[in-house]
Amino acid sequence: MAEPRKNNIIAVASGKGGVGKTWLAVTLSHLFARSGRHVLLFDGDIGLANVDVQLGLTPQRDLSSVISGRHTLEEAITHYEEGGFDIIAGRSGSATLATLSSEKLEAICEDLKQLQKNYDFVVIDLGAGVEQHVQYLASLAARCIVVITDEPTSLTDAYAFIKITHGNKNAPDVGIVVNQAATQKEGEVTYHSINKACVNFLNISPPLLGIIRRDNKVKDTIRAQKSLLIRAPHSTAATDAAVLSIKLMQK
Ligand SMILES: Nc1ncnc2c1ncn2[C@@H]1O[C@H](COP(=O)(O)OP(=O)(O)O)[C@@H](O)[C@H]1O
Ligand SMILES: [Mg+2]
Repeated sequence: MAEPRKNNIIAVASGKGGVGKTWLAVTLSHLFARSGRHVLLFDGDIGLANVDVQLGLTPQRDLSSVISGRHTLEEAITHYEEGGFDIIAGRSGSATLATLSSEKLEAICEDLKQLQKNYDFVVIDLGAGVEQHVQYLASLAARCIVVITDEPTSLTDAYAFIKITHGNKNAPDVGIVVNQAATQKEGEVTYHSINKACVNFLNISPPLLGIIRRDNKVKDTIRAQKSLLIRAPHSTAATDAAVLSIKLMQK
């Protein structure tokens, strides 16, 4: 199942759902685009897709028509005008990633690997969980951002994801982003707890890529189905995400 290494695909993972993966994938894509990068955001959470929902888009085409064979992956690209980046939307309630045949999944991944040549960054919003299909999509990426919060279940699920990913051939470089941190300091404490488990049990130390503080503006903008960068570009979370995006662009 291993895939050759790519250098411009960034997967956003978490293990646990509800930590802010989709929001971060959207916001990073928007920040990269604002810095002049050509960006494709791929909704890899195929059956519970919500990139389009968070942005209030109703794409004409999405992955379900690719899965059914009506369109190519390239034809399923929607340009998100306000953000200046491209999106391949999933479809909530459609076949989930897990129910896709591995031939179909491999064909989609093959096409995505071709498409990434047209972009500076491809960001994959991965589904929650640690199952094989999620791992397979993650293996396309050179880098994988694991999003955690201070909730114990987030930490255990993220640890499980890192453990399984680490055991795969061609595993992406894993880094940690602490989201919804009360303060920078608390974010560091959260990072240290997962890092300690990784060092002790896996003998690896995934770097801390960034800390994003809890900010009610995130909820407000998701509710309004707008990008945070449009509704509240100077908010705490937008500022923290911008610092992270600069770090990722420098790498
Ligand atoms: N930095 C943040 N501050 C406050 N709330 C946040 C933050 N990041 C995410 N959230 C909340 O978490 C919820 C889940 O986000 P979402 O991106 O859908 O998570 P996931 O994709 O991991 O399931 C959002 O609806 C939002 O309310
Ligand atoms: Mg999500």
